[in-house]
Amino acid sequence: MTKNEKLLRWVKEWTDLCQPESVHWCDGSEEENQLLLDIVVKNGSAVRLNGDKRPGCYYFQSDPSDVARVEDRTYICSEKKEDAGPTNNWKDPREMKETLRSLYKGCMKGRTMYIIPFSMGPLGSNISHIGVEITDSIYVVINMRIMTRMGKAVLDILDNNDFVPCVHSVGAPLRPGETDKKWPCAPIEKKFITHFPETNEIWSYGSGYGGNALLGKKCFALRIASNMAKREGWLAEHMLIMGITNPKGVKKYFAAAFPSACGKTNLAMLIPTIPGWKVECVGDDIAWMKFGKDGRLYAINPEAGFFGVAPYTSMKTNPNAMLSCRENTIFTNTGLTPDGDIWWEGIGYDVPAGTITWTNEKYDASSGKPAAHPNARFTAPAKQCPVIDNDWENPAGVPISAILFGGRRPDTLPLVYESFDWNHGVFMGSIAGSEVTAAAIGLKAGVRRDPFAMLPFCGYHMGDYFKHWIKIGENAPDKNKLPRIFNVNWFRKNSEGKYLWPGYGDNIRVLKWIFERLENSTSADMTPIGLVPEKGTIDLEGLNETIDVEGIIKIDKKEWQTELELIKTHYTIFGDRLPEELSKQLAALETRLNNA
Ligand code: OXD
Ligand code: MN
Repeated sequence: MTKNEKLLRWVKEWTDLCQPESVHWCDGSEEENQLLLDIVVKNGSAVRLNGDKRPGCYYFQSDPSDVARVEDRTYICSEKKEDAGPTNNWKDPREMKETLRSLYKGCMKGRTMYIIPFSMGPLGSNISHIGVEITDSIYVVINMRIMTRMGKAVLDILDNNDFVPCVHSVGAPLRPGETDKKWPCAPIEKKFITHFPETNEIWSYGSGYGGNALLGKKCFALRIASNMAKREGWLAEHMLIMGITNPKGVKKYFAAAFPSACGKTNLAMLIPTIPGWKVECVGDDIAWMKFGKDGRLYAINPEAGFFGVAPYTSMKTNPNAMLSCRENTIFTNTGLTPDGDIWWEGIGYDVPAGTITWTNEKYDASSGKPAAHPNARFTAPAKQCPVIDNDWENPAGVPISAILFGGRRPDTLPLVYESFDWNHGVFMGSIAGSEVTAAAIGLKAGVRRDPFAMLPFCGYHMGDYFKHWIKIGENAPDKNKLPRIFNVNWFRKNSEGKYLWPGYGDNIRVLKWIFERLENSTSADMTPIGLVPEKGTIDLEGLNETIDVEGIIKIDKKEWQTELELIKTHYTIFGDRLPEELSKQLAALETRLNNA
Protein backbone atom coordinates (compact mmCIF):
# COMPACT_ATOMS: atom_id res chain seq x y z
CA MET A 1 0.00 0.00 0.00
CA THR A 2 1.36 3.41 0.95
CA LYS A 3 2.91 5.25 3.85
CA ASN A 4 1.76 8.61 2.49
CA GLU A 5 0.05 10.16 5.54
CA LYS A 6 -2.10 12.59 3.60
CA LEU A 7 -3.36 9.77 1.38
CA LEU A 8 -4.10 7.45 4.29
CA ARG A 9 -5.91 10.18 6.22
CA TRP A 10 -7.90 11.19 3.17
CA VAL A 11 -8.98 7.62 2.37
CA LYS A 12 -10.03 7.13 6.01
CA GLU A 13 -12.05 10.35 6.00
CA TRP A 14 -13.95 9.32 2.85
CA THR A 15 -14.44 5.74 3.97
CA ASP A 16 -16.06 7.05 7.13
CA LEU A 17 -18.33 9.36 5.14
CA CYS A 18 -19.28 7.09 2.21
CA GLN A 19 -19.51 3.89 4.28
CA PRO A 20 -18.56 1.36 1.58
CA GLU A 21 -18.80 -2.33 2.28
CA SER A 22 -15.10 -2.76 1.49
CA VAL A 23 -12.10 -0.80 0.24
CA HIS A 24 -9.88 -1.98 -2.61
CA TRP A 25 -6.53 -0.37 -3.46
CA CYS A 26 -5.99 -0.79 -7.21
CA ASP A 27 -2.62 -2.21 -8.22
CA GLY A 28 -3.30 -1.85 -11.94
CA SER A 29 -2.35 -5.47 -12.68
CA GLU A 30 -3.73 -7.61 -15.49
CA GLU A 31 -5.22 -10.03 -12.92
CA GLU A 32 -7.04 -7.23 -11.10
CA ASN A 33 -8.42 -5.89 -14.37
CA GLN A 34 -9.70 -9.31 -15.41
CA LEU A 35 -11.28 -9.84 -12.01
CA LEU A 36 -13.19 -6.57 -12.31
CA LEU A 37 -14.25 -7.31 -15.89
CA ASP A 38 -15.53 -10.71 -14.81
CA ILE A 39 -17.66 -9.03 -12.12
CA VAL A 40 -19.31 -6.59 -14.54
CA VAL A 41 -19.97 -9.32 -17.10
CA LYS A 42 -21.44 -11.57 -14.43
CA ASN A 43 -23.69 -8.88 -12.96
CA GLY A 44 -25.00 -7.89 -16.40
CA SER A 45 -23.44 -4.41 -16.64
CA ALA A 46 -21.15 -5.42 -19.49
CA VAL A 47 -20.96 -7.80 -22.41
CA ARG A 48 -17.72 -9.52 -23.39
CA LEU A 49 -17.41 -9.02 -27.15
CA ASN A 50 -16.60 -11.71 -29.71
CA GLY A 51 -13.00 -12.73 -29.05
CA ASP A 52 -12.28 -13.36 -32.74
CA LYS A 53 -13.52 -9.98 -33.88
CA ARG A 54 -12.79 -7.84 -30.82
CA PRO A 55 -10.32 -9.59 -28.53
CA GLY A 56 -10.25 -8.23 -24.99
CA CYS A 57 -13.15 -5.84 -25.70
CA TYR A 58 -16.21 -5.10 -23.56
CA TYR A 59 -19.50 -3.33 -24.20
CA PHE A 60 -21.55 -1.12 -21.87
CA GLN A 61 -24.90 0.66 -22.17
CA SER A 62 -25.30 3.66 -19.89
CA ASP A 63 -28.48 4.89 -18.28
CA PRO A 64 -30.30 7.12 -20.82
CA SER A 65 -30.01 10.01 -18.35
CA ASP A 66 -26.22 9.68 -18.19
CA VAL A 67 -24.75 9.98 -21.66
CA ALA A 68 -22.37 12.96 -21.75
CA ARG A 69 -20.53 15.64 -19.82
CA VAL A 70 -23.06 17.79 -17.97
CA GLU A 71 -21.80 21.35 -18.31
CA ASP A 72 -24.67 22.92 -16.42
CA ARG A 73 -23.96 20.65 -13.42
CA THR A 74 -20.21 21.47 -13.53
CA TYR A 75 -18.92 24.04 -11.03
CA ILE A 76 -15.74 25.94 -10.27
CA CYS A 77 -15.91 26.61 -6.52
CA SER A 78 -13.25 29.27 -6.09
CA GLU A 79 -13.21 31.35 -2.88
CA LYS A 80 -14.33 34.41 -4.83
CA LYS A 81 -17.06 34.23 -7.46
CA GLU A 82 -15.22 36.62 -9.79
CA ASP A 83 -12.27 34.22 -9.96
CA ALA A 84 -14.43 31.59 -11.66
CA GLY A 85 -15.31 34.21 -14.27
CA PRO A 86 -18.25 34.62 -16.63
CA THR A 87 -17.83 31.29 -18.44
CA ASN A 88 -18.12 28.96 -15.42
CA ASN A 89 -20.87 28.03 -12.97
CA TRP A 90 -19.82 29.05 -9.49
CA LYS A 91 -20.83 28.08 -5.95
CA ASP A 92 -19.25 29.03 -2.65
CA PRO A 93 -16.84 26.18 -1.76
CA ARG A 94 -18.14 25.79 1.80
CA GLU A 95 -21.76 25.71 0.65
CA MET A 96 -20.98 23.24 -2.14
CA LYS A 97 -19.03 20.99 0.20
CA GLU A 98 -21.89 21.00 2.68
CA THR A 99 -24.42 20.04 -0.01
CA LEU A 100 -22.14 17.34 -1.32
CA ARG A 101 -21.18 15.94 2.07
CA SER A 102 -24.83 15.26 2.77
CA LEU A 103 -25.10 13.43 -0.56
CA TYR A 104 -21.86 11.49 -0.03
CA LYS A 105 -22.99 10.35 3.42
CA GLY A 106 -23.54 6.60 3.10
CA CYS A 107 -23.52 6.83 -0.71
CA MET A 108 -21.31 3.75 -1.15
CA LYS A 109 -23.33 1.44 1.09
CA GLY A 110 -23.34 -2.06 -0.36
CA ARG A 111 -20.52 -1.19 -2.75
CA THR A 112 -16.74 -1.45 -2.88
CA MET A 113 -14.69 1.73 -2.74
CA TYR A 114 -11.80 1.56 -5.20
CA ILE A 115 -8.69 3.68 -4.66
CA ILE A 116 -6.99 4.49 -7.98
CA PRO A 117 -3.53 6.05 -7.83
CA PHE A 118 -2.83 7.50 -11.29
CA SER A 119 -0.26 9.56 -13.10
CA MET A 120 -1.22 12.14 -15.70
CA GLY A 121 1.77 11.91 -18.00
CA PRO A 122 4.65 9.44 -18.17
CA LEU A 123 5.87 8.26 -14.77
CA GLY A 124 8.73 10.39 -13.57
CA SER A 125 8.32 13.23 -16.09
CA ASN A 126 8.78 16.68 -14.56
CA ILE A 127 5.70 17.77 -16.52
CA SER A 128 3.52 14.92 -15.11
CA HIS A 129 1.35 15.04 -11.97
CA ILE A 130 -0.16 12.41 -9.73
CA GLY A 131 -3.77 12.10 -8.68
CA VAL A 132 -5.72 9.57 -6.64
CA GLU A 133 -9.36 8.86 -7.48
CA ILE A 134 -11.77 7.26 -5.06
CA THR A 135 -14.71 5.69 -6.87
CA ASP A 136 -17.47 3.14 -6.38
CA SER A 137 -17.67 2.33 -10.10
CA ILE A 138 -15.86 -0.60 -11.69
CA TYR A 139 -16.51 1.03 -15.08
CA VAL A 140 -14.43 3.98 -13.88
CA VAL A 141 -11.59 1.76 -12.67
CA ILE A 142 -11.27 -0.15 -15.94
CA ASN A 143 -11.51 3.03 -18.02
CA MET A 144 -8.96 4.85 -15.84
CA ARG A 145 -6.62 1.90 -16.39
CA ILE A 146 -6.70 2.65 -20.13
CA MET A 147 -6.81 6.45 -19.94
CA THR A 148 -4.02 6.91 -17.36
CA ARG A 149 -0.97 5.13 -15.94
CA MET A 150 -2.54 3.59 -12.89
CA GLY A 151 -1.77 1.36 -9.91
CA LYS A 152 1.14 0.28 -7.73
CA ALA A 153 3.91 1.87 -9.83
CA VAL A 154 2.26 5.25 -9.21
CA LEU A 155 2.06 4.73 -5.44
CA ASP A 156 5.74 3.77 -5.49
CA ILE A 157 6.79 7.07 -7.04
CA LEU A 158 4.22 9.07 -5.04
CA ASP A 159 6.06 8.21 -1.86
CA ASN A 160 5.35 11.09 0.53
CA ASN A 161 4.70 13.68 -2.19
CA ASP A 162 1.52 15.58 -2.86
CA PHE A 163 -1.30 14.41 -5.13
CA VAL A 164 -4.59 15.75 -6.45
CA PRO A 165 -7.43 14.10 -4.49
CA CYS A 166 -10.40 13.19 -6.71
CA VAL A 167 -13.61 11.84 -5.19
CA HIS A 168 -16.24 10.10 -7.30
CA SER A 169 -19.44 8.26 -6.55
CA VAL A 170 -22.24 7.18 -8.85
CA GLY A 171 -24.56 8.21 -6.02
CA ALA A 172 -26.58 5.01 -5.83
CA PRO A 173 -26.16 3.17 -2.51
CA LEU A 174 -27.47 -0.37 -2.37
CA ARG A 175 -29.79 -1.59 0.39
CA PRO A 176 -29.15 -5.10 1.71
CA GLY A 177 -30.45 -7.61 -0.82
CA GLU A 178 -31.17 -4.95 -3.45
CA THR A 179 -30.05 -5.90 -6.97
CA ASP A 180 -27.90 -3.36 -8.71
CA LYS A 181 -28.92 -1.43 -11.84
CA LYS A 182 -27.02 -2.11 -15.05
CA TRP A 183 -25.70 1.48 -14.93
CA PRO A 184 -26.22 3.01 -11.49
CA CYS A 185 -26.28 6.81 -11.30
CA ALA A 186 -28.20 9.64 -9.61
CA PRO A 187 -30.93 11.78 -11.20
CA ILE A 188 -29.76 14.88 -13.07
CA GLU A 189 -30.57 17.33 -10.25
CA LYS A 190 -28.29 15.34 -7.97
CA LYS A 191 -25.35 15.23 -10.36
CA PHE A 192 -22.49 17.55 -9.39
CA ILE A 193 -19.07 17.85 -11.03
CA THR A 194 -17.20 20.24 -8.77
CA HIS A 195 -13.71 21.68 -8.61
CA PHE A 196 -11.99 23.52 -5.77
CA PRO A 197 -9.13 25.28 -7.56
CA GLU A 198 -7.43 26.81 -4.51
CA THR A 199 -7.05 23.40 -2.85
CA ASN A 200 -6.70 21.31 -6.04
CA GLU A 201 -9.67 19.08 -5.14
CA ILE A 202 -12.27 17.41 -7.36
CA TRP A 203 -15.59 16.11 -6.01
CA SER A 204 -17.90 14.41 -8.49
CA TYR A 205 -21.26 12.90 -7.64
CA GLY A 206 -24.06 11.14 -9.47
CA SER A 207 -22.73 10.45 -12.96
CA GLY A 208 -20.72 7.48 -14.22
CA TYR A 209 -20.06 8.79 -17.74
CA GLY A 210 -16.84 10.01 -19.38
CA GLY A 211 -15.47 13.34 -18.27
CA ASN A 212 -17.91 13.47 -15.33
CA ALA A 213 -16.42 10.34 -13.79
CA LEU A 214 -12.98 9.67 -15.30
CA LEU A 215 -11.62 12.51 -13.23
CA GLY A 216 -8.09 12.51 -14.68
CA LYS A 217 -9.34 13.88 -17.99
CA LYS A 218 -11.30 17.13 -18.13
CA CYS A 219 -11.54 17.71 -14.33
CA PHE A 220 -7.87 17.26 -13.46
CA ALA A 221 -5.89 17.58 -16.71
CA LEU A 222 -7.78 20.72 -17.76
CA ARG A 223 -9.83 22.45 -15.03
CA ILE A 224 -7.53 21.88 -12.05
CA ALA A 225 -4.33 21.74 -14.12
CA SER A 226 -5.16 25.08 -15.80
CA ASN A 227 -5.12 26.61 -12.29
CA MET A 228 -1.85 24.86 -11.40
CA ALA A 229 -0.35 25.97 -14.72
CA LYS A 230 -1.34 29.60 -14.12
CA ARG A 231 0.24 29.57 -10.67
CA GLU A 232 3.40 27.81 -11.86
CA GLY A 233 3.93 29.32 -15.33
CA TRP A 234 3.08 26.47 -17.70
CA LEU A 235 0.16 25.53 -19.98
CA ALA A 236 -2.62 22.92 -19.63
CA GLU A 237 -4.53 22.93 -22.90
CA HIS A 238 -7.35 21.23 -24.82
CA MET A 239 -4.97 20.36 -27.66
CA LEU A 240 -3.91 17.39 -29.73
CA ILE A 241 -0.19 16.86 -30.30
CA MET A 242 1.10 15.54 -33.62
CA GLY A 243 4.50 14.92 -35.20
CA ILE A 244 4.93 15.77 -38.88
CA THR A 245 7.86 14.52 -40.94
CA ASN A 246 8.65 15.84 -44.42
CA PRO A 247 10.12 13.76 -47.24
CA LYS A 248 13.63 14.87 -46.22
CA GLY A 249 13.11 13.31 -42.79
CA VAL A 250 12.79 16.65 -40.93
CA LYS A 251 10.30 16.35 -38.09
CA LYS A 252 8.29 19.03 -36.29
CA TYR A 253 5.58 18.81 -33.64
CA PHE A 254 2.35 20.82 -33.71
CA ALA A 255 -0.27 21.27 -30.98
CA ALA A 256 -3.83 22.11 -32.04
CA ALA A 257 -6.93 23.30 -30.19
CA PHE A 258 -10.39 22.69 -31.65
CA PRO A 259 -13.73 22.71 -29.85
CA SER A 260 -15.23 19.30 -28.99
CA ALA A 261 -16.51 17.41 -32.04
CA CYS A 262 -14.44 19.31 -34.62
CA GLY A 263 -12.25 16.37 -35.62
CA LYS A 264 -9.25 16.57 -33.26
CA THR A 265 -8.89 12.78 -33.15
CA ASN A 266 -9.06 12.61 -36.95
CA LEU A 267 -6.41 15.29 -37.38
CA ALA A 268 -4.10 13.76 -34.76
CA MET A 269 -4.00 10.47 -36.72
CA LEU A 270 -4.32 11.77 -40.25
CA ILE A 271 -3.03 9.73 -43.18
CA PRO A 272 -1.37 12.22 -45.54
CA THR A 273 -2.39 12.27 -49.19
CA ILE A 274 0.93 13.83 -50.26
CA PRO A 275 3.56 11.15 -50.86
CA GLY A 276 6.55 11.21 -48.54
CA TRP A 277 4.87 13.06 -45.65
CA LYS A 278 4.22 11.31 -42.36
CA VAL A 279 1.96 12.18 -39.41
CA GLU A 280 2.40 10.56 -36.00
CA CYS A 281 0.20 10.99 -32.96
CA VAL A 282 1.34 11.98 -29.47
CA GLY A 283 -2.14 12.76 -28.15
CA ASP A 284 -5.64 13.56 -29.38
CA ASP A 285 -7.16 15.72 -26.63
CA ILE A 286 -4.92 17.33 -24.01
CA ALA A 287 -1.43 18.88 -23.95
CA TRP A 288 0.61 19.98 -20.93
CA MET A 289 3.44 22.28 -21.97
CA LYS A 290 6.50 23.64 -20.18
CA PHE A 291 9.66 25.38 -21.32
CA GLY A 292 12.70 23.10 -21.56
CA LYS A 293 16.29 23.96 -20.72
CA ASP A 294 16.91 24.83 -24.38
CA GLY A 295 14.20 27.51 -24.24
CA ARG A 296 11.71 25.62 -26.39
CA LEU A 297 8.18 24.75 -25.31
CA TYR A 298 7.83 20.97 -24.66
CA ALA A 299 4.53 19.09 -24.56
CA ILE A 300 3.39 15.82 -23.07
CA ASN A 301 0.10 14.04 -23.53
CA PRO A 302 -1.05 13.53 -19.93
CA GLU A 303 -3.34 10.69 -21.01
CA ALA A 304 -2.57 7.09 -21.97
CA GLY A 305 -5.67 6.33 -24.02
CA PHE A 306 -8.25 7.73 -26.40
CA PHE A 307 -11.81 8.35 -25.24
CA GLY A 308 -13.04 8.83 -28.78
CA VAL A 309 -16.46 9.58 -30.23
CA ALA A 310 -17.48 6.42 -32.13
CA PRO A 311 -20.21 7.50 -34.60
CA TYR A 312 -18.85 8.47 -38.01
CA THR A 313 -15.44 7.00 -37.25
CA SER A 314 -14.71 4.57 -40.08
CA MET A 315 -11.89 3.03 -42.11
CA LYS A 316 -12.49 5.94 -44.49
CA THR A 317 -12.58 8.85 -42.02
CA ASN A 318 -10.00 7.58 -39.50
CA PRO A 319 -8.47 4.13 -40.13
CA ASN A 320 -5.92 4.64 -37.35
CA ALA A 321 -8.67 5.18 -34.77
CA MET A 322 -10.49 2.10 -36.06
CA LEU A 323 -7.30 0.05 -35.71
CA SER A 324 -6.65 1.53 -32.24
CA CYS A 325 -9.95 0.16 -30.96
CA ARG A 326 -9.70 -3.31 -32.49
CA GLU A 327 -8.73 -4.93 -29.20
CA ASN A 328 -8.56 -4.27 -25.43
CA THR A 329 -11.17 -1.54 -25.84
CA ILE A 330 -14.28 -0.55 -23.91
CA PHE A 331 -17.25 0.50 -26.02
CA THR A 332 -20.01 2.54 -24.44
CA ASN A 333 -23.44 3.24 -25.98
CA THR A 334 -22.68 1.92 -29.46
CA GLY A 335 -24.95 -0.68 -31.06
CA LEU A 336 -24.30 -4.39 -30.35
CA THR A 337 -24.47 -6.90 -33.20
CA PRO A 338 -25.80 -10.46 -32.83
CA ASP A 339 -22.30 -11.88 -33.39
CA GLY A 340 -20.89 -9.93 -30.44
CA ASP A 341 -19.40 -6.99 -32.30
CA ILE A 342 -20.20 -3.28 -32.15
CA TRP A 343 -21.81 -1.09 -34.80
CA TRP A 344 -22.46 2.62 -35.13
CA GLU A 345 -23.83 5.10 -37.63
CA GLY A 346 -21.14 6.01 -40.16
CA ILE A 347 -18.95 2.96 -39.43
CA GLY A 348 -18.82 2.36 -43.18
CA TYR A 349 -20.98 -0.75 -43.63
CA ASP A 350 -24.63 -1.67 -43.25
CA VAL A 351 -26.14 -2.45 -39.91
CA PRO A 352 -26.19 -6.23 -39.35
CA ALA A 353 -29.68 -7.71 -38.90
CA GLY A 354 -30.59 -8.18 -35.26
CA THR A 355 -28.40 -5.35 -33.93
CA ILE A 356 -29.34 -4.04 -30.49
CA THR A 357 -29.35 -0.28 -29.91
CA TRP A 358 -27.64 1.56 -27.05
CA THR A 359 -31.05 1.64 -25.32
CA ASN A 360 -31.12 -2.17 -25.57
CA GLU A 361 -33.90 -2.33 -28.15
CA LYS A 362 -33.90 -4.17 -31.46
CA TYR A 363 -32.62 -1.74 -34.09
CA ASP A 364 -35.39 -0.58 -36.40
CA ALA A 365 -34.36 1.83 -39.16
CA SER A 366 -37.95 2.99 -39.60
CA SER A 367 -38.13 4.19 -35.98
CA GLY A 368 -35.62 6.95 -36.76
CA LYS A 369 -33.75 6.03 -33.58
CA PRO A 370 -30.01 5.47 -34.06
CA ALA A 371 -28.24 2.28 -33.00
CA ALA A 372 -25.48 4.27 -31.29
CA HIS A 373 -25.94 7.33 -29.13
CA PRO A 374 -24.28 10.34 -30.90
CA ASN A 375 -21.84 10.54 -27.97
CA ALA A 376 -21.08 6.79 -27.93
CA ARG A 377 -17.42 6.24 -27.13
CA PHE A 378 -14.49 3.87 -27.44
CA THR A 379 -11.85 3.80 -24.73
CA ALA A 380 -8.69 2.47 -26.37
CA PRO A 381 -5.04 2.29 -25.27
CA ALA A 382 -3.00 4.95 -27.12
CA LYS A 383 -0.17 2.47 -27.65
CA GLN A 384 -2.45 0.50 -29.98
CA CYS A 385 -2.57 3.40 -32.44
CA PRO A 386 -0.63 2.33 -35.58
CA VAL A 387 0.85 5.84 -35.88
CA ILE A 388 1.63 6.48 -32.22
CA ASP A 389 4.76 8.61 -32.06
CA ASN A 390 8.02 7.04 -30.84
CA ASP A 391 8.35 9.85 -28.31
CA TRP A 392 4.77 9.81 -27.05
CA GLU A 393 5.95 8.64 -23.63
CA ASN A 394 9.21 10.58 -23.58
CA PRO A 395 9.25 12.14 -20.08
CA ALA A 396 10.91 15.25 -21.55
CA GLY A 397 7.96 15.77 -23.91
CA VAL A 398 8.23 16.83 -27.55
CA PRO A 399 9.26 20.34 -28.73
CA ILE A 400 6.33 22.29 -30.16
CA SER A 401 7.01 24.38 -33.28
CA ALA A 402 3.46 25.51 -34.09
CA ILE A 403 0.17 26.00 -32.30
CA LEU A 404 -3.03 25.81 -34.34
CA PHE A 405 -6.49 27.04 -33.47
CA GLY A 406 -9.62 26.17 -35.40
CA GLY A 407 -13.33 25.55 -35.45
CA ARG A 408 -16.17 25.05 -37.88
CA ARG A 409 -16.73 28.31 -39.74
CA PRO A 410 -18.74 28.16 -43.00
CA ASP A 411 -17.64 31.68 -43.91
CA THR A 412 -15.28 34.54 -42.95
CA LEU A 413 -12.31 32.45 -41.75
CA PRO A 414 -9.81 31.41 -44.45
CA LEU A 415 -8.43 27.89 -44.79
CA VAL A 416 -5.32 28.96 -42.90
CA TYR A 417 -3.65 32.13 -41.66
CA GLU A 418 -0.66 32.90 -39.53
CA SER A 419 -0.44 35.40 -36.70
CA PHE A 420 1.90 38.40 -36.90
CA ASP A 421 3.40 37.61 -33.50
CA TRP A 422 2.66 35.88 -30.14
CA ASN A 423 0.12 38.38 -28.83
CA HIS A 424 -1.72 38.39 -32.15
CA GLY A 425 -1.77 34.58 -31.86
CA VAL A 426 -3.26 34.86 -28.37
CA PHE A 427 -5.89 37.17 -29.88
CA MET A 428 -6.65 34.48 -32.50
CA GLY A 429 -7.08 31.88 -29.74
CA SER A 430 -9.32 34.22 -27.73
CA ILE A 431 -11.77 34.68 -30.63
CA ALA A 432 -11.87 31.04 -31.76
CA GLY A 433 -15.31 29.56 -32.20
CA SER A 434 -17.55 27.29 -34.17
CA GLU A 435 -20.79 27.70 -36.04
CA VAL A 436 -23.76 26.04 -34.36
CA THR A 437 -27.10 25.29 -35.92
CA ALA A 438 -29.88 25.92 -33.43
CA ALA A 439 -31.60 22.64 -34.20
CA ALA A 440 -28.55 20.52 -33.55
CA ILE A 441 -27.80 21.19 -29.90
CA GLY A 442 -30.44 23.59 -28.69
CA LEU A 443 -28.11 26.60 -28.73
CA LYS A 444 -28.63 29.97 -30.40
CA ALA A 445 -27.66 29.73 -34.06
CA GLY A 446 -24.51 31.59 -35.06
CA VAL A 447 -20.92 31.55 -33.91
CA ARG A 448 -20.39 29.99 -30.51
CA ARG A 449 -17.16 31.48 -29.23
CA ASP A 450 -14.98 28.84 -27.64
CA PRO A 451 -11.72 30.62 -26.77
CA PHE A 452 -8.75 28.27 -27.11
CA ALA A 453 -11.40 25.47 -27.22
CA MET A 454 -11.33 25.85 -23.44
CA LEU A 455 -14.84 27.22 -22.81
CA PRO A 456 -16.01 24.20 -20.77
CA PHE A 457 -12.55 23.43 -19.42
CA CYS A 458 -10.82 26.59 -18.20
CA GLY A 459 -10.87 26.33 -14.39
CA TYR A 460 -10.70 30.07 -13.69
CA HIS A 461 -11.58 33.49 -15.09
CA MET A 462 -11.13 33.33 -18.86
CA GLY A 463 -9.81 36.93 -18.92
CA ASP A 464 -7.01 35.90 -16.54
CA TYR A 465 -6.40 32.87 -18.74
CA PHE A 466 -5.83 35.16 -21.75
CA LYS A 467 -3.41 37.18 -19.62
CA HIS A 468 -1.61 33.99 -18.64
CA TRP A 469 -1.03 33.24 -22.33
CA ILE A 470 0.29 36.78 -22.86
CA LYS A 471 2.67 36.29 -19.92
CA ILE A 472 3.93 32.96 -21.28
CA GLY A 473 5.06 34.92 -24.35
CA GLU A 474 6.57 37.74 -22.27
CA ASN A 475 8.44 35.40 -19.92
CA ALA A 476 9.62 32.94 -22.57
CA PRO A 477 13.29 32.14 -22.01
CA ASP A 478 13.93 32.83 -25.72
CA LYS A 479 11.18 34.61 -27.67
CA ASN A 480 12.64 33.42 -30.97
CA LYS A 481 11.96 29.84 -29.92
CA LEU A 482 8.28 30.33 -29.14
CA PRO A 483 5.94 28.25 -31.31
CA ARG A 484 4.38 30.23 -34.16
CA ILE A 485 0.59 30.49 -34.11
CA PHE A 486 -1.87 29.68 -36.92
CA ASN A 487 -5.63 29.41 -37.39
CA VAL A 488 -7.14 26.78 -39.67
CA ASN A 489 -10.67 26.26 -40.97
CA TRP A 490 -11.49 23.09 -42.91
CA PHE A 491 -15.20 23.93 -42.99
CA ARG A 492 -15.63 26.98 -45.23
CA LYS A 493 -18.50 26.64 -47.70
CA ASN A 494 -19.34 28.30 -51.02
CA SER A 495 -22.56 30.19 -51.73
CA GLU A 496 -24.30 26.88 -52.56
CA GLY A 497 -23.45 25.48 -49.16
CA LYS A 498 -20.81 23.06 -50.47
CA TYR A 499 -17.57 22.57 -48.53
CA LEU A 500 -14.67 24.23 -50.34
CA TRP A 501 -12.01 21.95 -48.89
CA PRO A 502 -11.87 18.12 -48.98
CA GLY A 503 -10.49 17.82 -45.43
CA TYR A 504 -9.28 14.58 -43.79
CA GLY A 505 -5.99 13.32 -45.35
CA ASP A 506 -5.82 16.38 -47.58
CA ASN A 507 -5.40 18.58 -44.52
CA ILE A 508 -1.71 17.61 -44.82
CA ARG A 509 -1.60 20.21 -47.61
CA VAL A 510 -2.29 22.92 -45.06
CA LEU A 511 0.05 21.36 -42.49
CA LYS A 512 2.74 21.33 -45.19
CA TRP A 513 2.29 25.06 -45.78
CA ILE A 514 2.58 25.68 -42.04
CA PHE A 515 5.66 23.42 -41.89
CA GLU A 516 7.24 25.40 -44.72
CA ARG A 517 6.41 28.71 -43.05
CA LEU A 518 8.35 27.48 -40.02
CA GLU A 519 11.31 26.71 -42.29
CA ASN A 520 10.88 30.11 -43.98
CA SER A 521 10.66 28.28 -47.29
CA THR A 522 7.24 29.46 -48.45
CA SER A 523 5.61 32.84 -48.75
CA ALA A 524 2.56 34.53 -47.36
CA ASP A 525 0.53 37.60 -48.19
CA MET A 526 -0.05 40.24 -45.59
CA THR A 527 -3.77 40.89 -44.99
CA PRO A 528 -5.57 42.87 -42.27
CA ILE A 529 -6.27 39.67 -40.33
CA GLY A 530 -2.88 37.97 -40.63
CA LEU A 531 -0.64 36.16 -43.10
CA VAL A 532 -2.37 33.98 -45.69
CA PRO A 533 -0.82 31.60 -48.26
CA GLU A 534 0.49 33.37 -51.33
CA LYS A 535 -1.08 32.14 -54.56
CA GLY A 536 0.28 28.72 -55.55
CA THR A 537 1.90 27.94 -52.18
CA ILE A 538 -0.67 25.37 -51.05
CA ASP A 539 0.33 22.07 -52.65
CA LEU A 540 -2.67 20.80 -54.63
CA GLU A 541 -0.86 18.19 -56.69
CA GLY A 542 -2.64 14.88 -57.00
CA LEU A 543 -6.04 16.22 -55.91
CA ASN A 544 -8.70 14.87 -58.20
CA GLU A 545 -11.07 17.75 -57.66
CA THR A 546 -10.67 21.39 -58.52
CA ILE A 547 -10.32 23.62 -55.53
CA ASP A 548 -11.48 27.21 -55.45
CA VAL A 549 -8.28 28.31 -53.73
CA GLU A 550 -9.11 31.99 -53.99
CA GLY A 551 -12.54 31.40 -52.48
CA ILE A 552 -11.13 29.50 -49.57
CA ILE A 553 -8.39 31.98 -48.75
CA LYS A 554 -10.34 35.15 -49.46
CA ILE A 555 -10.58 37.78 -46.75
CA ASP A 556 -13.92 39.49 -47.27
CA LYS A 557 -13.86 42.96 -45.76
CA LYS A 558 -17.63 43.02 -45.13
CA GLU A 559 -17.60 39.61 -43.43
CA TRP A 560 -14.70 40.72 -41.25
CA GLN A 561 -16.47 43.94 -40.29
CA THR A 562 -19.37 41.82 -39.07
CA GLU A 563 -16.89 39.54 -37.32
CA LEU A 564 -15.30 42.55 -35.64
CA GLU A 565 -18.63 43.55 -34.10
CA LEU A 566 -19.19 39.96 -32.93
CA ILE A 567 -15.73 39.94 -31.33
CA LYS A 568 -16.52 43.20 -29.54
CA THR A 569 -19.69 41.66 -28.10
CA HIS A 570 -17.81 38.49 -27.16
CA TYR A 571 -15.15 40.55 -25.38
CA THR A 572 -17.63 42.52 -23.26
CA ILE A 573 -18.24 39.51 -20.99
CA PHE A 574 -14.66 39.62 -19.69
CA GLY A 575 -15.06 43.15 -18.30
CA ASP A 576 -11.95 44.69 -16.81
CA ARG A 577 -10.20 41.31 -16.77
CA LEU A 578 -9.78 41.47 -20.54
CA PRO A 579 -6.03 42.07 -20.91
CA GLU A 580 -5.25 45.44 -22.49
CA GLU A 581 -2.98 43.62 -24.94
CA LEU A 582 -6.12 42.05 -26.42
CA SER A 583 -8.08 45.32 -26.55
CA LYS A 584 -5.09 46.69 -28.47
CA GLN A 585 -5.16 43.71 -30.84
CA LEU A 586 -8.85 44.32 -31.48
CA ALA A 587 -8.30 48.05 -32.13
CA ALA A 588 -5.37 47.25 -34.44
CA LEU A 589 -7.51 44.79 -36.41
CA GLU A 590 -10.21 47.45 -36.77
CA THR A 591 -7.68 49.99 -38.04
CA ARG A 592 -6.16 47.52 -40.50
CA LEU A 593 -9.63 46.59 -41.80
CA ASN A 594 -10.65 50.24 -42.18
CA ASN A 595 -7.46 50.99 -44.09
CA ALA A 596 -7.79 47.98 -46.36
C1 OXD B 1 -14.05 15.34 -25.21
C2 OXD B 1 -14.64 16.67 -25.28
O1 OXD B 1 -14.75 14.37 -24.89
O2 OXD B 1 -13.92 17.62 -25.60
O3 OXD B 1 -12.84 15.23 -25.49
O4 OXD B 1 -15.85 16.81 -25.05
MN1 MN C 1 -11.89 17.10 -25.74
